[in-house]
Amino acid sequence: MANIAIVIYSTYHHVAQMAESVKSGVESSGNNATIYQVPETLSEEVLTKLYAPAKPDYPIATTETLVQADGIIFGFPTRFGSMPAQMKSFIDSTGGLWGEGKLYQKPASAFISTGSGGGRETTVFSLLSTLTHHGMLYIPLGYAAVFGEITDLSNIQGSTPWGAGTIAGSDGSRKPTENDLKIANIQGKQFAEIVSKMNKKEEVKKAEPVKEVKKAEPIKETKKVEPVKKETKNTVAEPAPKKKNAIKRFFSKIFN
Ligand SMILES: Cc1cc2nc3c(=O)[nH]c(=O)nc-3n(C[C@H](O)[C@H](O)[C@H](O)COP(=O)(O)O)c2cc1C
Repeated sequence: MANIAIVIYSTYHHVAQMAESVKSGVESSGNNATIYQVPETLSEEVLTKLYAPAKPDYPIATTETLVQADGIIFGFPTRFGSMPAQMKSFIDSTGGLWGEGKLYQKPASAFISTGSGGGRETTVFSLLSTLTHHGMLYIPLGYAAVFGEITDLSNIQGSTPWGAGTIAGSDGSRKPTENDLKIANIQGKQFAEIVSKMNKKEEVKKAEPVKEVKKAEPIKETKKVEPVKKETKNTVAEPAPKKKNAIKRFFSKIFN
């Protein structure tokens, strides 16, 4: 069973609501998911001026959260087409992990929220550089599992093949639609299934005993093969028939 960390930042809870769907998608595949939020960097005063509601009730992510997870799904709203400073600040605290290669080959994915849709794809891109430097593996949403939902033009929807998304509206009054939440759910399920498959392969690799390789036999010295003599016609003169004893011949002539 894979343990998936869903690490989010959300000011107005659109991303938080999407995260709940991602989580149930992960769980529907028989895997574990926990939602974490990164530390806020804005003061209470600024948050009040932004009419930000109270923070959702999720544990605060630490660098250890990333190390312990089998896979990480990041969720954040756009800020001018990039990830928000809160997420960047958290990610910038992973320098130590980078030095030790702790996140190397760890699978990751992302979902987002935008006000108008502007910067939906670049917001995900803004994460890719960090993932690449860590050697992490980005698993996109793609089209195959959500083709109907993502290409339905009768629906305002915020997802792209890079990851699920929602459109909050310029005043934040829109809520994630059923379609957005369904796509988020599918992304969670699909991601967890891939991570779980990767884990199983790793387990099999670890469990397989190293096959003993038979020591190569030393090459036996073989008798030099004599070259096959060509059968030649007997050219050597046959020994001449022995002449009968001359005396015997002399007497046999006389007496026969
Ligand atoms: C400083 C700032 C910059 C923003 N830039 C964009 C933007 O480039 N494109 C866009 O569609 N929405 C933009 N927004 C709107 C947010 O993306 C929107 O409030 C967010 O998606 C809501 O998600 P949340 O409820 O999880 O915080 C911006 C908001 C702020 C405060």
